[in-house]
Amino acid sequence: MGRLFAPLAALLAACQPQGPTYHADAAPILEARCVACHQNGAIGPFSLTSYDEVAAVKELVADSVESGRMPPWQAADGCNDYANSTDLTPAEKETLLAWLDAGAPEGRPVETVQAKPAPRFEPDLVLPLPERYSPTDLDDYRCQIVDPGLAAPAYVTGFVALPDAVQVVHHVIAFRVKGEQRTRFEDMDAGFDGPGWPCFGAPTAPGYDVVDIDLSEVPLTELLAMFENGEAIDALGGFGWLGSWAPGGQGGFFPEGTGIPLQPDDFLVVQMHYNTASGTVSDQSAIGITVANQVERPAIVVPYADPAWIADLPFLGDPMTIPAGQAAVTHSTGMDGDGPLFDYVRSQLDMPSDAPVAIHSVAQHMHTLGRSGRQVVEHGDGTETCLVDIPDWDFDWQSRYVFTEPVVLGPDDEVVLSCTWDNSPANQPVVDGSLAEPVDVEWGEGTRDEMCLGILYLTEL
Ligand code: HEC
Repeated sequence: MGRLFAPLAALLAACQPQGPTYHADAAPILEARCVACHQNGAIGPFSLTSYDEVAAVKELVADSVESGRMPPWQAADGCNDYANSTDLTPAEKETLLAWLDAGAPEGRPVETVQAKPAPRFEPDLVLPLPERYSPTDLDDYRCQIVDPGLAAPAYVTGFVALPDAVQVVHHVIAFRVKGEQRTRFEDMDAGFDGPGWPCFGAPTAPGYDVVDIDLSEVPLTELLAMFENGEAIDALGGFGWLGSWAPGGQGGFFPEGTGIPLQPDDFLVVQMHYNTASGTVSDQSAIGITVANQVERPAIVVPYADPAWIADLPFLGDPMTIPAGQAAVTHSTGMDGDGPLFDYVRSQLDMPSDAPVAIHSVAQHMHTLGRSGRQVVEHGDGTETCLVDIPDWDFDWQSRYVFTEPVVLGPDDEVVLSCTWDNSPANQPVVDGSLAEPVDVEWGEGTRDEMCLGILYLTEL
């Protein structure tokens, strides 16, 4: 710039708005927190990659950020700290809202220092879905068997989903299933046309129970023993959650030094949630895993729920009934640190009885009537550690919450899980263009059944 223009440049600089601008303040945040989903070809309904694109929807953006709806991260602040949070920090939220409040000024482009990219997660094994599938329903849930093809026992130490048709892939969950369930799952697969089978709240198709036992056929004493010795938990844990992915997720390693054991005959069931709002495209996504022969601390992923909810046997306790028409129905259950669930965990991890267990991450699972959920550890000394607090449940955005510091659970502690549902007339699924009538809802795998599961990733300390 010639000398003549220098004073003009100074004048222009002085005219720059004092408050936040798009280029200096908003763009880096949108880049880090929104653009993975909001760019051409990604799952978000519009792109947020330039000033004009953002300015065109600024009221919507303000509303979605203010309400906390975007980015889609369900865990409330103030419960625990998560290493995998994709949420805006309070400072980022404040900056974005201040910028929007000031009328979303563009400001001048700034030289940006390129942040050092985080190390990429490189899977050792890339496992594609065996068959290409064309989703048809608006929300289409489809499961396929994926074989890791291991020659020897190994540990899975990290997980990523590698979506193929990004416009339609909404969510991916991989379950590890024990080899002894193979024929059962192959029969299920054979029972449905096309690749895999429809599956919604679990890796099984409607009408196929998760627990491979008809509990009503089991004599009472044997049944009680099953809950005592963990056999029932084993049946439920026969499909452990290996990993889950939602758009924008980068995938990553499980907590350092830990891994989930996988036997050569174990297999994976990959549940795809397709959303076809933006059109139907065929998909053959893959998942990627890292594996190790040895880990310092083998991990176990246990889903837990009240046995009475699942078995519907009155002597075990009350069923998980959610009466038609009621707007706030809560069911809770607790698992003692020295009870059958954690005894089972210790036996699986070769730990001494009564040894404390490390909880590395937590997830919660309900279906679409879910309104809120919470898990806490109530310690023997009367104190409490919050694991996760989900004030506004959204079936579409289920996640695992990885603690920055593992939570220690001793034999005198108890994990408490609670779920609240809204079964009021206004919160019903749309069937043929109109809201369905509320019905009494119980535990089950179907789209109109409900579940309340906690899912813990555990190791020894
Ligand atoms: C993980 C993917 C993902 C991320 C990250 C994400 N979005 Fe979204 N966004 C979506 C999807 C999918 C929709 C449409 C469906 C829905 O609302 O769930 C959406 C919808 C929206 C909408 C319109 C509907 C509404 O809820 O207001 C706005 C505005 C929006 N996003 C803004 C943002 C902003 C701002 C960020 C970052 C602070 C962001 N999004 C981050 C996936 C994402």
